[in-house]
Amino acid sequence: MKRILVTGATGQIGSELTLALRRAYGNDEVVALAHVAEPGKELLESGPCDFLDCREIGAIAEMVKRYGVDTIYHLASLLSAVGELDPQQAWNVNMMGLFNVLEAAREYQCAVFYPSSIAAFSPNAPKDKTPQVTLQRPDTMYGITKVAGELLCDYYFKRFGVDTRGVRYPGLISHKTMPRGGTTDYAVQIYYEAVKGNKFTCYLKPGTFLDMMYMPDAIKAAIQLMEVDSSRLKHRNSYNITAMSLAPEMIGAQIRKEIPSFTMDYQIDPLKQAIADSWPNSMDDSAARQDWGWKPDYNLKSMTKDMIEKLLRKLKMNRHDG
Ligand SMILES: NC(=O)c1ccc[n+]([C@@H]2O[C@H](COP(=O)([O-])OP(=O)(O)OC[C@H]3O[C@@H](n4cnc5c(N)ncnc54)[C@H](O)[C@@H]3O)[C@@H](O)[C@H]2O)c1
Repeated sequence: MKRILVTGATGQIGSELTLALRRAYGNDEVVALAHVAEPGKELLESGPCDFLDCREIGAIAEMVKRYGVDTIYHLASLLSAVGELDPQQAWNVNMMGLFNVLEAAREYQCAVFYPSSIAAFSPNAPKDKTPQVTLQRPDTMYGITKVAGELLCDYYFKRFGVDTRGVRYPGLISHKTMPRGGTTDYAVQIYYEAVKGNKFTCYLKPGTFLDMMYMPDAIKAAIQLMEVDSSRLKHRNSYNITAMSLAPEMIGAQIRKEIPSFTMDYQIDPLKQAIADSWPNSMDDSAARQDWGWKPDYNLKSMTKDMIEKLLRKLKMNRHDG
């Protein structure tokens, strides 16, 4: 029986991962930790919820003790674009938070899931099929915290035997909770505008290829990696995983197959474009496929169909055309 703590449980990933974990392991076994924002009704009513500032020394250890936890999914973080606007705070939240989680895990023998990102590579690493092991000298604060986080997790595994595991997530596309301050947020916003019948103005240039994944695959990967027998893992922190490499115009074209009147134009945000240009066009995720059987279920076509259906329902709208 697992007893699980999820930090950042109200975020884009946490709001869906917590519910999936509750379905898999039982509602009472999964504690959702919010920060300042009150969790939504679904999270509040389906299982235990509490509040935590992950920067506070001892706060996570206190939660682990209070709830008798053996596994932590650590999602609390500041993302790439907000991280560049406030790099000092990004360092504090991302590094102090992770350090406190790992210390609690060491003291109470917990397993830890820690998501890294496509931001963790060097701008000089190969852009296409970026290898599992390659140059990691990012030039954003977010990327720096991700590499430092991967190293710190590996250190706690080797030095203290803490069962740390992680993936490098690509940009995640979802319909439940809006992303906040990432460079790939446009790939979610575009679907909302399309479903509302609006034109979408993209802040990245056409031809900006980035790895992407639909949220159900991201959730599946996290749970699958934490379940796999530890002897299969040749890497710990972190495994490249991806589902598709997309440029904005490709998503636009796929949406037009469902909503023919959809249009988009471009107004480049130099900060976000510079971040995107420093990231891979596509990652090689063969190590994850070989070692623990990673395989995404969704491609651009099936994701687009599902996103549009779910958003039409969520926004209580009818199809404009198509
Ligand atoms: N969403 C993506 O596309 C993506 C891609 C790659 C990696 N990741 C990683 O996945 C993890 C979760 O990402 P997300 O998209 O859900 O982020 P998010 O911004 O939606 O959620 C982050 C959560 O952290 C919480 N938080 C912020 N400061 C906190 C603090 N001081 N104490 C406690 N909680 C705090 C926020 O309340 C929020 O719920 C992060 O580590 C992120 O780097 C996300």
